[in-house]
Amino acid sequence: MDRRKFIAASGLSAISLSTFGKIIKTDDGSFVGDCETSNDILGPFYRADVPLRSDLTYEGLEGTVIDLKGIVYDDDCTTPLSEAMIEIWHCDKEGAYDNDSNDFHQRGKVITNKAGEYSFKTILPGKYLNGDKFRPAHIHYRVTAKAKKELISQIYFHGDPHIVDDPWASKKKAERRILPISLEDTKGNLAVVFDIYLSNK
Ligand SMILES: [Fe+2]
Repeated sequence: MDRRKFIAASGLSAISLSTFGKIIKTDDGSFVGDCETSNDILGPFYRADVPLRSDLTYEGLEGTVIDLKGIVYDDDCTTPLSEAMIEIWHCDKEGAYDNDSNDFHQRGKVITNKAGEYSFKTILPGKYLNGDKFRPAHIHYRVTAKAKKELISQIYFHGDPHIVDDPWASKKKAERRILPISLEDTKGNLAVVFDIYLSNK
């Protein structure tokens, strides 16, 4: 019996993985190493060569401004990763992507600093139809770093009624990517925090 079949047969996936993976059960019964950020679909609207910039707002842009930020970690789940590249893209308030303009609206990329931190200033995306159903509001991510597996993923937002019917947001593996929108300060600024855990190639 190979290892994969053994896991399936035993039903002890988490504990069994500790035998030959990096997940370790600690003395208090919790697991260390089970942090890798799960992937999601690329979708049809990715564009390469987006500008290096953290501020995706501009005069005349409508929508609710958010600070979107987090820390990128190495596969030990604790060491910040500097010089990782984070690309994001999302639709505007009305659900439209900028697929052809030279302005690359609601698209940008940044590089993490020494503390592994990244941040964008952007707006909450609207929603658009996928067939006859709306996709929940989401922001696409592509994260690359030296010697790390490329991560293609998406984030969603707490309380979005369209999550339950979405083939991707409703998956179990998307749970940790459904994020709260929280008040950042007394001025009413909003923040969304998405920490990212990359795995080795
Ligand atoms: Fe999308």
